[in-house]
Amino acid sequence: MGEDRSLGKTIIAKGYEPDNFTCWAVLNDENATRLELQEPGIVYEILEGREGDRCYGIVQKTVRLSERSPISEQLSMETAREPITTSAMMLSVFRESGITAPVGRHPIRLADDHGIKLAYNIEDSGIPVGVYTLLSGIPPQTCVVNLPVDYVLGPEAAHMNTGGQTGYAKTAWNLLCCRAILSDKELSRDICVIAFNVKADDLLWVDEKNTELEEEDLKLYELMTIKPEPFGDVKIFAPELPTKDGEPKPNSLRFDAIPFSWKWNDIKDQLHFAISPEDWNDKLEALLVDLCSIEEVQSFDDAISELDWMIKNAKGSWVTSRTYATHHVTTALKAKRILDGIRKRFKGLIEGKSAPLPVEELLVGGRFSVIDVQRLSPPAQRLVFSKVHADTIRRLEEGTAEVKKIVYMIDELNKFAPKVAKPPISGIRYIIDEIAARGRSIGAILFGIEQYPSQISDETTGNVSTLVLCRMKPTELDAHLYRGISKEVKQMIQRLPKGYAVVIHDRFTSPILVRFPRPPCAQKRPVEYEILSHIASKITKESASEIIKKFRRVLKEKPYEELRQVLSEYVNQGILPEKLVQDYLERRKRYEEA
Ligand SMILES: Nc1ncnc2c1ncn2[C@@H]1O[C@H](COP(=O)(O)OP(=O)(O)OP(=O)(O)O)[C@@H](O)[C@H]1O
Ligand SMILES: [Mg+2]
Repeated sequence: MGEDRSLGKTIIAKGYEPDNFTCWAVLNDENATRLELQEPGIVYEILEGREGDRCYGIVQKTVRLSERSPISEQLSMETAREPITTSAMMLSVFRESGITAPVGRHPIRLADDHGIKLAYNIEDSGIPVGVYTLLSGIPPQTCVVNLPVDYVLGPEAAHMNTGGQTGYAKTAWNLLCCRAILSDKELSRDICVIAFNVKADDLLWVDEKNTELEEEDLKLYELMTIKPEPFGDVKIFAPELPTKDGEPKPNSLRFDAIPFSWKWNDIKDQLHFAISPEDWNDKLEALLVDLCSIEEVQSFDDAISELDWMIKNAKGSWVTSRTYATHHVTTALKAKRILDGIRKRFKGLIEGKSAPLPVEELLVGGRFSVIDVQRLSPPAQRLVFSKVHADTIRRLEEGTAEVKKIVYMIDELNKFAPKVAKPPISGIRYIIDEIAARGRSIGAILFGIEQYPSQISDETTGNVSTLVLCRMKPTELDAHLYRGISKEVKQMIQRLPKGYAVVIHDRFTSPILVRFPRPPCAQKRPVEYEILSHIASKITKESASEIIKKFRRVLKEKPYEELRQVLSEYVNQGILPEKLVQDYLERRKRYEEA
């Protein structure tokens, strides 16, 4: 790669039309077998020699032909004669001047970074997310791929979606993107990220250093001019863990998450989202809406007593509420059963000792907040999402939020916006569709992540301006959603290693293959997690944060031998269990050796 001399030439193809923006090219004989020079995505400069203009072509596909089939070759009497084989590349053509004249016969050579940017329409500034690459390796031209700010964060568009097989760095890509956005002083002033940790724990360590960064990752960060450091301003919230007594704790793997809990009045407008689809019907929703409108009903207790009162005074099969609305008695009985169930199953998330989730703490410029709902059931997750969305979007709309834009990062978007959904899930899907379609006008931005974008609501995927595809299976790529993607790019997507993604963007002229670094923050729990968690369980909440901070520093900074002595002293004094310390020291040693 990096050859300056001509590698081949454009040809006048049969079927040539003056208004098409593609042309064909062939490589010189000595390069004809170099497959890496024919890979889709390579950019050639077409040396037309037009004054004040430069012309580039992106390889879309390569066609190969041989005059003999393998069977004829086998049967051939003339085995000594080499079969005539040839290949030609189809290039989509872009000129610096913007003119779209047909291409004649000209030499071609590999484009420089300026040419690559021009051909793909990559701007010099924006949100850096990786470097332009090829599957055969990173080319010598370094070309950082920047996403246009106005298409990621509005006002032009505000929806990025990432799809791909499990374990192919979808969450990692989104963390990197958020880091790139929040690293920009100007952008971060008015933007906050609210991420929902729906499964596993990979969003819970965003304030921890990624200890798995390799030399290549660091080089990529340098090119992207982003510091490979974890998020600075992080808040982690989790619903309260239901306990009989004692201090309220978060229902989260992060022992230091801030617990929250809601009362009837906080969530009565979102309660219907927590009903399971099997129980849901219009009549039930109407009764709940009626119940919520009764001023005297101020708690779950009140709501249940109100239903009891209505049922007791039923006339035949009908009950009448204080608002004079009538409902069927079976609906009232069902509502009572459901409210009772929600109250028991959601204990902690509702009617706990903690304060409600402080919305204003989410809406701080430059902050990355994680709401950990991993341990909650899907109906409870829906309740949390709809409540956080309602509170935050209201402030954006009213102009009372301290930020101008909110990025909602939703992993496992299929749980919230599936293509096929019954109520109340369809209600949540409607919220997501609204953000995807109209969020840009008020500053609500959606970063959706899922394995199968084809299973997401059409309204949501139809409004994607940045579609990021990590490795995918052919069965997924067969879906209608991908009909605009060429066979060649689909084949490439099926072979992508971790850390590679194809980015399809409204402003890019073709899909771009991007190599991106591991995220700057950890996606796994740190080695010292168990030991810190044990200490946190032994101390009171008031002193916890200071002690944990100090202890964390000791664990991170002390050399191994010294640390071993300090920890054995703790074991001798009965502060830490021996097994816990041994496990930690072993892991730490392995980590240091690695
Ligand atoms: N840029 C990268 N280069 C190489 N490996 C990476 C890169 N980013 C992440 N990884 C590795 O890939 C693993 C999986 O990443 P990640 O959890 O983001 O995948 P995912 O697609 O979100 O998976 P899932 O669908 O299961 O949530 C990470 O644990 C990390 O080790
Ligand atoms: Mg993931």
